[in-house]
Amino acid sequence: MMLKVENLSVSYNNAVAVDNISFEVKKNEAVAILGANGAGKTTLLNAIFNTVKKSGKVIYKDRDISNMHTKDIVSMNIAYVPDKRTVFNDLTVYENLEIAAKDIITSKKRRYFMESLEHIFERFSNLKEKIALKAGYLSGGEQQMLSIAQGLIREPEMFVMDEPTAGLSPKLTKSVFEIVSFMKHKKITVLMVEQNVNKTLQYTDRAYIMNVGKIVDSGYSETFLKSKSVKKAYLGG
Ligand SMILES: Nc1ncnc2c1ncn2[C@@H]1O[C@H](COP(=O)(O)OP(=O)(O)OP(=O)(O)O)[C@@H](O)[C@H]1O
Ligand SMILES: [Mg+2]
Repeated sequence: MMLKVENLSVSYNNAVAVDNISFEVKKNEAVAILGANGAGKTTLLNAIFNTVKKSGKVIYKDRDISNMHTKDIVSMNIAYVPDKRTVFNDLTVYENLEIAAKDIITSKKRRYFMESLEHIFERFSNLKEKIALKAGYLSGGEQQMLSIAQGLIREPEMFVMDEPTAGLSPKLTKSVFEIVSFMKHKKITVLMVEQNVNKTLQYTDRAYIMNVGKIVDSGYSETFLKSKSVKKAYLGG
């Protein structure tokens, strides 16, 4: 098991946002968390990465990470791209990538970093053209791509993202899902929160449906794709 969440709860001023949630992600799986606005999806991810106060347990590769600092969790080879973009506006695209990888590039690994960069730019040609531009001048979509690239450059074992296609053009949305395929191909385990239900179900193995803080349904993405009633009930269509 890659990730196991047990009885996770989060409250904000007595209002329960995540209500006793348990779920798991197996190695090499791509798993989606779907649900309406305000269902608690972002809070759930933030609880996994310990940026909000929670109760319950989070196990990553048999290790209890429930009380670990966010930066220590991330350094266990999990990438987290939160819903807010994390690029440094005053740094160039190149510098943003370099800084994302700084604790893993030693001089010995420099060549390897440059190779990873080439692979990433094959998929993010927009970024390659703008490698020397300050990230603050990128479009919102390009900044989102850079956030994902920052995760990928670390060659993570698991990649967690919160609405990576939010605000992106159809073309960039397509690129994001192609990257999900690429991650699967690279045997990177994926956990993604998304609003783009149909596309997400096409690119993931399993999905959990959240509604007002609880998981109300789960199953194979393929099965959800075929079952209109589930989509109507929880996902608006
Ligand atoms: N920092 C906070 N303080 C108080 N309440 C919060 C806070 N963050 C989220 N909430 C509330 O918790 C609930 C879940 O919010 P959350 O952002 O996790 O939902 P979500 O499923 O990610 O929604 P969306 O699809 O809009 O991103 C909502 O009712 C929200 O108003
Ligand atoms: Mg959210």
